[in-house]
Amino acid sequence: MRVFNIGIIGYGGFGKFLHNAWEPLENVRVVAVADQNAAALQVQHGVKTFSDWRDLLREKDIDAIAIVTEPATHEEIATACMEAGKHVLIEKPLAISLTDAEKIIQTRDRMGTVAAIDFIMRFNPLLQAIQSFTQLGVFGKLRRADVENYAQDEQLPPEHWFWHPERSGGILIEHAVHFIDLVHFFAPAKILKVNGLKHNRNPQQEDQVMANVLYEGGLIATHYHSFARPGFFETTKIKLAYDLADIELQGWIPLGGTLKALVNRQTKQALLDSPFFELDDSTAIENASDESRPKGWGVSEIPGSSNRNTVRSGGIVYEVNEIVSGNFQMKQSKQEVYADCVRASLLDVLNKIENPECHLTASLETGLESLKVAVLATASARQSIASTMAVSAGE
Ligand SMILES: NC(=O)c1ccc[n+]([C@@H]2O[C@H](COP(=O)([O-])OP(=O)(O)OC[C@H]3O[C@@H](n4cnc5c(N)ncnc54)[C@H](O)[C@@H]3O)[C@@H](O)[C@H]2O)c1
Repeated sequence: MRVFNIGIIGYGGFGKFLHNAWEPLENVRVVAVADQNAAALQVQHGVKTFSDWRDLLREKDIDAIAIVTEPATHEEIATACMEAGKHVLIEKPLAISLTDAEKIIQTRDRMGTVAAIDFIMRFNPLLQAIQSFTQLGVFGKLRRADVENYAQDEQLPPEHWFWHPERSGGILIEHAVHFIDLVHFFAPAKILKVNGLKHNRNPQQEDQVMANVLYEGGLIATHYHSFARPGFFETTKIKLAYDLADIELQGWIPLGGTLKALVNRQTKQALLDSPFFELDDSTAIENASDESRPKGWGVSEIPGSSNRNTVRSGGIVYEVNEIVSGNFQMKQSKQEVYADCVRASLLDVLNKIENPECHLTASLETGLESLKVAVLATASARQSIASTMAVSAGE
C-alpha cells in the first residue's frame, strides 16, 4: 500500500476538521501544515509547521496539498503548488473569479498534476443514490430544484473574511457553489440563463442572496441563502420536482428526506433495493385519487387515454401503476457522514494519482461550472435597478 504524504495550507476551522477526519486513513499521513496565523499552528508532534505556505512547497516528500485558505487566495496558492509538482485538493469555491479559475485549470493541464475541488456532497452516499436514480430516469425528468438555506451568522462577525466580497466572492460564490454543483451532479446540462437577487444589511454585509438558473432541457433551479437568522431556524431544504416524484431533502449535509412518487414494478423495485429508502405507503393507481380537477369539472378524460396507468408530464408519456410515499434515511450522524465525505474526497484524489485513467468525482471543471452560475448570479444581483432599466430601455 502506497502511503501519501499530505500538506495542508490554511489551518483554521476546516483545515483542522480535514486533518482530524483524515487521521484514521491508513494510506494518508499529514506531514506539514501552513498558516499565516501563528496561533492556528498548534499541531501534534511529528507534523511540520510553516507560517509561510511557500516554505511548505519546498518539502520534497509531500505528494499532495489541501488548500483550505479563504477563497481569494486559492488561485495563487493552487497554481504555485502545482508548479512545485504537487497534486492538489482545493476547497470550494475554486476561485472567486472565472479568470482565476481558468488559470488554475491551465496550470493543471500544463503541469499534469491531479487537481480536484472539495465538493463533499458528491461523496454523500444518499446523494449518490439520488443521483443514480436521476440518471437512470427512475423518477422521470428532473424539472425543478429548489434550495432554501437559512444559516445563523453569530460566529461570523462583520470583520470576518466571509463578509468581504473581495476575499470570499460573496455568499453565492463562497457558499452556494456547493448546492449549485449538487444540481449539476444530479442532472448536468448546459446553463442557458442566470439571474440573481441580494439584500444588504449594511454596506458591508450582503446577507440574503438568490440565484435562478435555467438549463437546457427545461430544468429550473433556485438557490436562496440567508446568513441572517437565529441558530434555532438554521435549516436547509432541497426540493426536487421530477415528472414522477417529489423529493425533499433536509440538512446541509443531507441525511434524509421524503419521497412521493408514481412508480411501476421496475422503478418501485429500484427504490426498495436502496439501503436508504423505507416505504411508508403505496396505493394502486386505480384507487388513488387525483384531485387536480374537482368533481363536476367539464371534460376530465385525458384526450387519447382511457388508461389510468399512462401519465403525461411535460410532453413525456410514462407507464406507472402505483403511487408510493416513504423516507430516505441514513443511519450515521451528520458528523460521521461529513467526515466520511471528506475522507472519500481525498481518497478520490489519491486514487487518481495512482490510477491516472480513473475518473475524478469532483474535477476542476465541476468547480468552474458552478462558479460560472455563482459569478453570473452575483453580477446580476449587484446590478442596480437604474442600470437594469437602462438595459431594458436599450440605452
Ligand atoms: N467543503 C466544505 O464543506 C467546507 C466547509 C467549510 C469551509 N470550506 C472552505 O474552506 C476554506 C477555509 O474556510 P474556513 O472556514 O476553514 O476558514 P478559516 O478562516 O477558519 O480558516 C482559514 C485559515 O487560512 C489561513 N490563511 C488565510 N490566508 C492565508 C495565506 N495567504 N497563507 C496562509 N494561511 C492563510 C487563516 O489564517 C486561517 O487560519 C474556504 O474556502 C471555505 O469555503 C469548505
